[in-house]
Amino acid sequence: MRLLVCGGAGFIGSTFARQRLREHGDQVTVLDKLTYAGREENLHDLARDPSFRFLRGAVEDRQAVAEAIDAAAPEAIVNFAAETHVDRSIAEPDAFVSTHALGTYVLLEAARERELRYVQVSTDEVYGSIDEGTFTEQSPLAPSSPYSATKAGADLLVQSYFHTYGLPAVICRGSNNYGPYQYPEKLIPLMILNALHGDSLPVYGDGMQVRNWIHCTDFAAAIGHVLAHGQPGEVYNAGGPDEEANMTVVRRIVQLTGAAETQIEHVADRPGHDVRYSLSSQKVRALGWSPKVRFSDGLEQTVAWYRDNAWWWEPIRSGEYRAYYERQYGRSLHP
Ligand code: NAD
Ligand code: TYD
Repeated sequence: MRLLVCGGAGFIGSTFARQRLREHGDQVTVLDKLTYAGREENLHDLARDPSFRFLRGAVEDRQAVAEAIDAAAPEAIVNFAAETHVDRSIAEPDAFVSTHALGTYVLLEAARERELRYVQVSTDEVYGSIDEGTFTEQSPLAPSSPYSATKAGADLLVQSYFHTYGLPAVICRGSNNYGPYQYPEKLIPLMILNALHGDSLPVYGDGMQVRNWIHCTDFAAAIGHVLAHGQPGEVYNAGGPDEEANMTVVRRIVQLTGAAETQIEHVADRPGHDVRYSLSSQKVRALGWSPKVRFSDGLEQTVAWYRDNAWWWEPIRSGEYRAYYERQYGRSLHP
């Protein structure tokens, strides 16, 4: 297939682009604004592939989107483009509203005009927090942060384009992803890099919050299944095979990196912190998808990747991320 992958220079979008080129022989055009989280380094191994093209541009920019569609002549648009960090959405929500609301709208209009299939990549966070049991596609939307509320708004807009205009659009909602190329503001890469550098490991509150972990290659494959086999107008949840409390994850990272347990430090809790996410994947499993990577293996491989790929994270840890870390955590990172 010919695909326009928006936000494809980020963590999961680049994983998806790699998988489509390597495993499916697709032609992939990435359109990405290159925010702090988007990096061409994430696509370094694809840059010279004749079936791959990178274009810099924002999804809320109509002209950039039109030019990308002219260049790619896609059969489908897959939209990963987003601001993705809950803590940043609490501190500065502006970009979350414009990218998720306006950006999704511009892409939907472009897809409608040209009758393209459309896949919206979304998150379990739109359902809010669940103490017991697991969310299905029928669960009500109850987002709690500016991140999840704007993602939920985008999902509703996508569904309205199916109901109103018959746009062949599908939504795939994933649980917490981890793996190579994840920006180190997120729990797992933050803890790995801090552990390796002798920095403290800042656990919010008591660390008993639970997340449902999915390896990025499994989520990318689920999105591919939904692209190929999903029914227009439908939502498909893709949850990982394992749920873990944050403290368990951090302790395992301490073991895998050879860091000291004394590096763990409980810090002020995140405002409105969701206690637990859990996602049922029955519907996407019926399309033939299942997750392949168990968390304990995937975490070990992820620690090894960060240990072996300092070329990837060194420019991040010495750049904007240091200032962000100081603002968010009130302390500096070791050089
Ligand atoms: P990321 O922050 O690593 O990447 C986001 C990408 O979008 C970056 O390359 C960025 O430059 C690009 N982008 C941001 N605003 C843009 C704009 N206005 N126009 C064009 N490009 C723009 O995020 P990620 O973790 O790869 O997440 C990708 C998608 O998956 C998001 O939609 C996110 O909501 C969803 N998701 C993420 C997770 C997770 O755990 N990371 C879980 C479920 C769903
Ligand atoms: P995060 O990776 O930000 O993903 P999300 O909030 O989207 O689930 O955080 C995962 C969990 O880890 C969440 O419960 C918040 C917690 N957390 C910490 O305890 N310390 C940290 O420094 C970060 C970034 C997250």
